[in-house]
Amino acid sequence: MARVIPIDSDRQGVIDAAIEILSKARPVALPTETVYGLAADATDPVAITSIYETKGRPRFNPLICHMADLAMAERYADFDPISRALAARFWPGPLTLVVPLKAGSSIHPLATAGLDTVGIRVPKGFAGDLIRAFDRPLAAPSANSSGKISPTTAEHVEADLGGRIDLIVDGGPCPVGVESTIVKVEDGRIRMLRPGGIAAEDIEEATGLAVERLKPAGTAAIEAPGMLASHYAPNAHVRLDAQSIAPGEALIRFGDAEIAGEKDASIVLNLSRHGDLAEAAANLFGYLKQADQARPSGIAVMPIPMQGLGEAINDRLKRAAAPRSA
Ligand code: TXA
Ligand code: MG
Repeated sequence: MARVIPIDSDRQGVIDAAIEILSKARPVALPTETVYGLAADATDPVAITSIYETKGRPRFNPLICHMADLAMAERYADFDPISRALAARFWPGPLTLVVPLKAGSSIHPLATAGLDTVGIRVPKGFAGDLIRAFDRPLAAPSANSSGKISPTTAEHVEADLGGRIDLIVDGGPCPVGVESTIVKVEDGRIRMLRPGGIAAEDIEEATGLAVERLKPAGTAAIEAPGMLASHYAPNAHVRLDAQSIAPGEALIRFGDAEIAGEKDASIVLNLSRHGDLAEAAANLFGYLKQADQARPSGIAVMPIPMQGLGEAINDRLKRAAAPRSA
């Protein structure tokens, strides 16, 4: 079983313990501001292979490479002026930029699934400190078995991957709670490959440029391969935009509006009583898991507005509700 070490005990000791494992080309589960990541040396094919194997993840799905700062990122990839401005404004933070690999970049092709671009982000807090100390980029997908809901606590990671990894660094619940926003700048246009922890409106305000969405869902195969499969799948059927509840269903609320049948719900969880989308994002994955564990006849979710972080929340809910593909 994995050792679980809280960060606050001895930060330098935790960094040393993590580096020892990373240096053996093994993965470490660690907190980021978005979700827990399963991190390994992005320059080492053995390390990257162990990530894919631990998650059961298809290898055509590239990994995000995490850097300590923009200066480090520029050692591995080429930044156009708009990408650089986005990095300066939003890093460290939940924004991933897809940029061309530098010629001779030591990021291993297994991490990028052989693409000539790489998804890079600079995480806040412990993860950033660890990368600075290790002085190599860390490839890190979310620390869950492929197709499952991303973990936002060390306990989630332990329950899923605890038997398969050496170390889980416990930083408490992730404050953002949904994965990073992924954007790619092309010919001076900003395309959003995945909505996430930075709202599209904030990117538009920072750059004065419109953010183009990928559409329709299902055509993004080449751009962001991981965005296709049925993802974030709870066992129970998920029903969106619920206006009433059937007896035995779990209810995931947003706000305080009345909803018919609530008293017969098997469990009621409120993403945010006051209708705060950031709070709702932070609660989303944990509540989906909690609702699922109550073994309800289904999970009914009240409508969530499509603005700000609501775009990421609705995206993840839509995936959770998608019929499972083979
Ligand atoms: O917040 C996050 O982004 C978390 C934390 C751990 O940093 N990571 C995460 O990784 O969500 P993952 O592996 O679950 O999702 C990575 C996504 C995939 O959909 C993948 O297709 C896309 O990033 N991606 C990575 N590199 C890419 C590239 N070069 N071009 C297009 N998409 C890329
Ligand atoms: Mg994931």
